[in-house]
Amino acid sequence: MTTTDFGFQQVDERDKARRVRGVFDSVASRYDVMNDLMSMGLHRAWKAYTVMVADARPGQQVHDIAGGTGDLSLAFARKVGASGRVVHTDINETMLRTGRDRLLDEGVALPTLVCDAERLPFATGSFDLVSVAFGLRNMTHKDIALAEMCRVLRPGGRLLVLEFSRVARPLQPAYDWYSFRVLPRLGQAVAGDADSYRYLAESIRMHPDQDTLKAMMKQAGFGHVDYHNLTGGVVALHVGIKCQ
Ligand SMILES: C[S@@+](CC[C@H](N)C(=O)[O-])C[C@H]1O[C@@H](n2cnc3c(N)ncnc32)[C@H](O)[C@@H]1O
Repeated sequence: MTTTDFGFQQVDERDKARRVRGVFDSVASRYDVMNDLMSMGLHRAWKAYTVMVADARPGQQVHDIAGGTGDLSLAFARKVGASGRVVHTDINETMLRTGRDRLLDEGVALPTLVCDAERLPFATGSFDLVSVAFGLRNMTHKDIALAEMCRVLRPGGRLLVLEFSRVARPLQPAYDWYSFRVLPRLGQAVAGDADSYRYLAESIRMHPDQDTLKAMMKQAGFGHVDYHNLTGGVVALHVGIKCQ
């Protein structure tokens, strides 16, 4: 049996996707309000920064992977306009439906598709931009998912990975206290689910740090990779360019 991490637990790797699905099925209806509460609104700034760096242009083809409730999809749709296209995908139907309904309420209808980032149903070179916000951490085979993201980009296209990362050392004690003491209680109070928010804190610790992820992106085929630390490394935005 090959094992992988699910938070701090080691589980059969065939079981990780099911467990991750359970987490997001459980939190989908309270996901947006929890994001605002637990990040004190900062996730909006991290996403706005991502959209600014992406610099999507009218007419471009964008794929928001693990798009969930659709924050980035919505922002990109406004940038690419009617001549462009944003494809909003996620492995979890509950998250995707929540996002699709929200986008429709905003007057935005996008192609919305349930699919696994490790097996993208798109031709090679289909997109100018691919984004994945707070999704990579949950994937079982990150190397395969990154290679797929590279494959579906056109040469010169860019991948934006927004993800929790390794905080600067002086922030660590306060960040650990907040993650392990406050977050699960907040999750219990607001979403009725402490375990999913304990998983969040644990999965962040298990995720590759900034330089390791940069190396993984290069290994996956990106010719140039850079990262931007945000909020002292609580989050990092990695930008990979497919050079050929
Ligand atoms: C924390 S949410 C992020 C949602 C949204 N991108 C955001 O930033 O608010 C993580 C998402 O990753 C999705 N996900 C996890 N594993 C995935 C996979 N293998 N392929 C596609 N999506 C996946 C989950 O279903 C979930 O909707």
